[in-house]
Amino acid sequence: MKRTLVSGLGLAFICACVFFVLSIPDPLQADALPTHSANLENGELIFWAGGCASCHAAPGATEDDLLRLSGGVELATPFGVFKSPNISPDPNAGIGDWTTLDFVNAMVKGLSPDMDHYYPAFPYPHYQNITYADLIDLKAYLDTLPLSSNEVADHELDFPYSFRRGVSLWKWRYLDRNRSQPVKDATAQLERGRYLVTGPGHCGACHTPRDAYGGEQVERFLAGAESFEVAPDSAGEGGGRIPNITPHKDGIGDWSESDIAYSLESGFDPDFDSFGGSMVEVQENMARLPAADRAAIAAYLKSIPPQPSDLP
Ligand code: HEC
Ligand code: HEC
Repeated sequence: MKRTLVSGLGLAFICACVFFVLSIPDPLQADALPTHSANLENGELIFWAGGCASCHAAPGATEDDLLRLSGGVELATPFGVFKSPNISPDPNAGIGDWTTLDFVNAMVKGLSPDMDHYYPAFPYPHYQNITYADLIDLKAYLDTLPLSSNEVADHELDFPYSFRRGVSLWKWRYLDRNRSQPVKDATAQLERGRYLVTGPGHCGACHTPRDAYGGEQVERFLAGAESFEVAPDSAGEGGGRIPNITPHKDGIGDWSESDIAYSLESGFDPDFDSFGGSMVEVQENMARLPAADRAAIAAYLKSIPPQPSDLP
């Protein structure tokens, strides 16, 4: 009896130590960043490709208001309601006093300047695939946007998700899986498509199925998913189902590359139905990219492994 208690306590102690070690933040240091003089035009391209305004502009914002990143968009998930923060260059309410290194650590490590772990409702598992040079350009572009003094309320999360340090376990289990590497011998176009889809475009955040802990089943990349958001209008007309966009007959196997590129430009699928739900904003962002980038995304989507929507 005594022995069981002692070994029980021993196990609890070991678990606590392991958890403590896993939850120690591992930020990038300044020398990890390349010397790179910022290109604002490219920063703006990454901003639209990344869909930052869809979550960080005020709810319902359009046109010029998309550039005022006052935050406050609510993301209702099975874990509770996340509220997107103000990331305008306001030094108090926003991120105006952040260094470029602070910003890069948020985007690739999911770490705040105070070394808190961010929840993956912020799609950094995908943004970690953006190059440092593109992140430096993006930060410089964000610095040019209008200030907002809007203060956003805290997330409303259920226990144990309200415990931020616990996110470290999630990161330990899932973060590396979302890392995407350049493909050897791929054409420049396919490589650009892979980069846009798996990096800034974060298509998998909605189109790849998730497991019970919200981790993406990367082996079923883009096979379609139940909407992770529980907000009523987050998915399209198919209810909570987000379509398969692999080149399978369950997916978009019968769309040509130009059908895909045209849909991202215009919002119309090959049957001339318009996109609905959260894809509307994604498409409006994609429409701002150069045509060559939409063509690259289309070529890449046609090149990935076809997946059935449901496993047999
Ligand atoms: C799907 C919605 C969503 C998208 C898209 C999104 N974010 Fe966020 N972002 C969030 C949420 C939610 C948080 C808060 C995370 C937390 O509190 O742990 C956040 C946090 C942040 C933070 C930390 C802010 C702070 O005050 O600590 C930064 C910086 C940021 N996002 C930048 C961006 C950029 C740049 C983009 C576009 C490339 C982007 N986000 C796209 C939802 C999003
Ligand atoms: C915020 C969630 C979200 C993100 C991110 C997202 N999508 Fe979608 N996508 C959807 C939803 C929801 C639909 C269904 C729209 C409808 O029902 O009209 C959809 C539909 C589509 C379709 C049409 C499929 C069909 O069979 O009709 C294509 C193609 C597509 N998305 C491509 C992309 C690409 C490429 C990306 C990344 C650049 C992307 N999506 C990122 C939510 C998302």
